[in-house]
Amino acid sequence: MPADRAPLTARRNGPLAGWARVPGDKSISIRALILGALAVGETRIGGMLEGEDVMNTAQTLRDLGASVERTAAGEWRVRGVGVGGFAEPQQKLDFGNSGTGCRLMLGAVAGCPITATFDGDASLRSRPMRRVLDPLERIGARTLASTDGRLPLTLAGARDPVPIVFRPPVPSAQLKSAALLAGLSAPGETVVIEAEATRDHTEKMLTHFGAQVRVEPDDAYGRRITLTGQPELMPRPVVVPADPSSAAFPLIAALIMPGSDVILDGVMMNPLRTGLIATLAEMGASIERLEMRKEGGEDVVDLRVRAGALRGVEVPAERAPSMIDEYPVLAVAAAFAEGTTIMRGLKELRVKESDRLAATAALLRGNGVAVEIEGDDLIVHGNGCAAGGGVVTTHMDHRIAMAAMVLGFASDRPVQIDDGAFIATSFPGFVELMRGLGADLS
Ligand code: S3P
Repeated sequence: MPADRAPLTARRNGPLAGWARVPGDKSISIRALILGALAVGETRIGGMLEGEDVMNTAQTLRDLGASVERTAAGEWRVRGVGVGGFAEPQQKLDFGNSGTGCRLMLGAVAGCPITATFDGDASLRSRPMRRVLDPLERIGARTLASTDGRLPLTLAGARDPVPIVFRPPVPSAQLKSAALLAGLSAPGETVVIEAEATRDHTEKMLTHFGAQVRVEPDDAYGRRITLTGQPELMPRPVVVPADPSSAAFPLIAALIMPGSDVILDGVMMNPLRTGLIATLAEMGASIERLEMRKEGGEDVVDLRVRAGALRGVEVPAERAPSMIDEYPVLAVAAAFAEGTTIMRGLKELRVKESDRLAATAALLRGNGVAVEIEGDDLIVHGNGCAAGGGVVTTHMDHRIAMAAMVLGFASDRPVQIDDGAFIATSFPGFVELMRGLGADLS
């Protein structure tokens, strides 16, 4: 839990210039720890995100009997207990603000014959867990205590897990991953059929650790993932590439702060994470891909970002899974574009760390930008500038906090947030990195 409330103010300054590397990917860092803990032997992880979401997941794995140690900055060593080998924890598992940590660990625990209580902060306690519990109960886990399918909840893992075929009711990598991690303990094939492909880090990493996973296309946008249960996971080194969802903040700041010219080093380009880059290209952004290479099995690239005029676009609903965390900051870019941007199909934003659809609209409206919510669509009327001057309520949501700061870097008057402490859940060093490029944050 972030220690102290930390109001922050962003003022117009710049241009931004220079080179920066954002921290490691949150999704991959959390998965590397969990699979390391489910492998037999020692897994080394490099480039790990040392944000609070990841640190909380690391602590829960220790509580379950794995050894998780930091050996140097970004370098971690995990000694795993094997699939199904978690020990019953003596205390409740506290995931802080992390939906990903909590949901994936519900899956990992559901396949073990232990009972554990899951909890988190006020934001995580407000988020729906029933959608994860449904497939886990079909596999054989039992929910012993929970109010309204929310945290705190107590889960009894399955003694004899059974493989299932699961069609997630919403496009969610967290749901998919929970079912696959629980399926590790079941004999036979666990199948997840997603109507829209979501980030595939769990599938890729399971394969990397030696599990048998088959991925096939399903209908227009979907995928069918088949996992063969009860593998012996082998420890494998993991290199975590830079998080594209974190890179989005300096990237959009550079686009909207006139005269900026910034290089972002080694940003992951997993095709299921690049919806924002595709959208910004349609808006006319100058984003050049410099050196392409592989890191940790993913394509990464240095991005050269230069400020310039943007135009409003329509972002189709099918693109949402590949940029689900990027909408708050895309909405800021849309405010500085000429014309209207319509972002369709954002229902899932309502159940993120905050109601991000409402929080994004409020952050723009409070700073003089014309914005509407119509059903599940967010509509921003851009006219190339924003008045600023607002105090933004961040609702314990790191991405609302950072998006508001990016708005403040380019608006006429300063923008303040009530609390920047939650930025540390995903992007420790955000303030220093932005200052290093020339931003005014205090
Ligand atoms: C994540 C999946 C997404 C995303 C979250 C990270 C993951 O959530 O919003 O920040 O690592 O699997 P959903 O799967 O619920 O859409």
